[in-house]
Amino acid sequence: MTRAVQIEQHGGPELLKIVDVNVGEPGPGEIRIRHHAVGLNFIDVYQRTGLYAMPMPLQLGMEGAGVVEAVGAGVTHLKPGDRAAYASQPPGSYCEVRVMPAKCVCKLPDAIDFETGAAMMLKGLTAQYLLKKTQPQGGLKEGDFVLFHAAAGGVGLIACQWARAMGLQLIGTAGSDAKCALAKEMGAAHVINYATEDFKARVMEITGGRGVKVVYDSVGKDTWDKSMDCLQPFGLMASFGASSGPPAPFAPGVLGPKGSLYVTRQTLFTHIATRESTQAMADDLFATVASGQVKIRIDQRYPLEQVQQAHRDLEARKTTGCTVLTL
Ligand SMILES: NC(=O)c1ccc[n+]([C@@H]2O[C@H](COP(=O)([O-])OP(=O)(O)OC[C@H]3O[C@@H](n4cnc5c(N)ncnc54)[C@H](OP(=O)(O)O)[C@@H]3O)[C@@H](O)[C@H]2O)c1
Repeated sequence: MTRAVQIEQHGGPELLKIVDVNVGEPGPGEIRIRHHAVGLNFIDVYQRTGLYAMPMPLQLGMEGAGVVEAVGAGVTHLKPGDRAAYASQPPGSYCEVRVMPAKCVCKLPDAIDFETGAAMMLKGLTAQYLLKKTQPQGGLKEGDFVLFHAAAGGVGLIACQWARAMGLQLIGTAGSDAKCALAKEMGAAHVINYATEDFKARVMEITGGRGVKVVYDSVGKDTWDKSMDCLQPFGLMASFGASSGPPAPFAPGVLGPKGSLYVTRQTLFTHIATRESTQAMADDLFATVASGQVKIRIDQRYPLEQVQQAHRDLEARKTTGCTVLTL
């Protein structure tokens, strides 16, 4: 048996309940992992509220780190006793121990502790594929401007540092002056408080009227329209979240007059669809963290029993950087 966080229906944080569930033996292609820490992500909120409809009952959580206890037939990259971390479907990481597919679980380098591993896999692999693989026509070069919304959040602070390491000029937005200062300290070249400033006007000022090559937009409804107006001709609008709600539907015809823009909606789960792609991205992330170019800030820790409060704080924009649930 293990303690796990479960919901019986979609709704508010009060529906998150700790229950006892059975944990079996891993089947073919699966492992059993005992968590030392669990990562909290905004996708957990979408799955709880029903923005992403899920079958019930649902055990939440997409990220964790711990020790492999058992491996099923056909699993060759992990063995019992290995330290490991993952971002993976299906949900279910908010627990002490679980059986899960092995494909997305990676050996954790000795230099990276469990909490850091639990905090960084989903958010770090996302920053990796956004900055390295979600690029405009012609790619990104040193000195290029990109706009990154919610820059003081979990994905955001990793992206600020990684963009700086790549020589990019990341313009980060955030909802308070304190969050802006944090994003700047962590590598954003410029910051904009989008609660008090017109971010489109500021982007044009910063870029000398040229605009940016890419907007990385995880905020959605509140930023979508203005974000498109921040792009250079042929620029890329990269949507990857909806923390303020999904953007309104739009007609492709609007993209022409705005400068023959490109639009994409990306999800990590396409990028980590295979063992090989997951490991290649994880190796890049591990090397970047080990080199010190990207530091994983864990700004909040909650015991698993306080998972309701953790969700409330994330939704209320009270958090910065990464958040872990401790066991
Ligand atoms: N598609 C993918 O592959 C993928 C993978 C990982 C994450 N994501 C997305 O990336 C985003 C960041 O994820 P995260 O886990 O690191 O979360 P986070 O950035 O730590 O938290 C979300 C942030 O969004 C901002 N925000 C703006 N409007 C908001 C609103 N109405 N309600 C709540 N927050 C609002 C807040 O920052 P300010 O106060 O500074 O505005 C808040 O702190 C999320 O949208 C998530 O869904 C997508």
